[in-house]
Amino acid sequence: MTGAAPVPVRTAVVTGGASGIGLAVARRLAADGLKVAVLDLVPAPEAYGLTVDVTDRAQVDKAMDAVRERLGPVSVLVNAAGKDGFTRFGDLSFADWQRVVDINLNGVFHCVQSALPDMWEGHWGRIVNISSSSTHSGQPFMAHYVAAKSAVNGLTKSLALELGPRGITVNAIPPGFVDTPMLRTAEREQRLGGTVEDHVARTPVRRVGRPEDIAATCSFLVSEEAGYITGQIIGVNGGRNT
Ligand SMILES: NC(=O)c1ccc[n+]([C@@H]2O[C@H](COP(=O)([O-])OP(=O)(O)OC[C@H]3O[C@@H](n4cnc5c(N)ncnc54)[C@H](O)[C@@H]3O)[C@@H](O)[C@H]2O)c1
Repeated sequence: MTGAAPVPVRTAVVTGGASGIGLAVARRLAADGLKVAVLDLVPAPEAYGLTVDVTDRAQVDKAMDAVRERLGPVSVLVNAAGKDGFTRFGDLSFADWQRVVDINLNGVFHCVQSALPDMWEGHWGRIVNISSSSTHSGQPFMAHYVAAKSAVNGLTKSLALELGPRGITVNAIPPGFVDTPMLRTAEREQRLGGTVEDHVARTPVRRVGRPEDIAATCSFLVSEEAGYITGQIIGVNGGRNT
């Protein structure tokens, strides 16, 4: 009897998968049945973890090779590694600007380029870039971060056009107000303009985002059935940005 070709077990790389959103994504994709590797500055609490600075191309390439060796060709990439920054623009040093751009934007460049040959060869790929809801409207004191994350959205759209003919989709999720160490640090340092609870009162769905909310969206975007969705910026923000 003939039937549809079996769906292969995919190998996914999640950057920033040791904490917060990336960790939830790594867990979710593993629960979905994918083979998951995590690239992060710090050791991942689970999955196949590699200690990597995504701004360092040699480290990224070495890690990608190790993943290929151990788990097979990389056909799913979720770029969640990121770092925020909060400085008045007039006081922002170029070094701080560069570091934030390096992690949030150049890290995506390195990881996509390093994983791409597998997707190209396999005529199938899924790339999801975690940007930020701050790109909807800008954010004072975060010019470097918002500039870098906005560039990630632009990169996503361009890559979608370039890679679509090869069966590779590229989408971005700009999360808003997700309860992670990054958000709680911002709250502790009084950078939110109020507490998380204050913001919940102004959020249409009346709760803070959970890393699992982003993970669920990611899970769908990397699935076989999401193949007609590409070049999209899919907000997951409780209605805070529409
Ligand atoms: N939490 C939110 O509300 C929110 C909102 C908008 C965007 N984001 C974005 O979501 C992503 C995940 O953020 P989070 O809230 O889970 O933060 P988090 O700080 O909990 O996790 C970020 C992870 O990225 C890793 N990382 C940082 N720099 C790295 C580097 N150079 N190389 C490798 N790994 C590196 C960290 O070690 C950490 O494990 C980030 O890109 C962030 O900018 C988060």
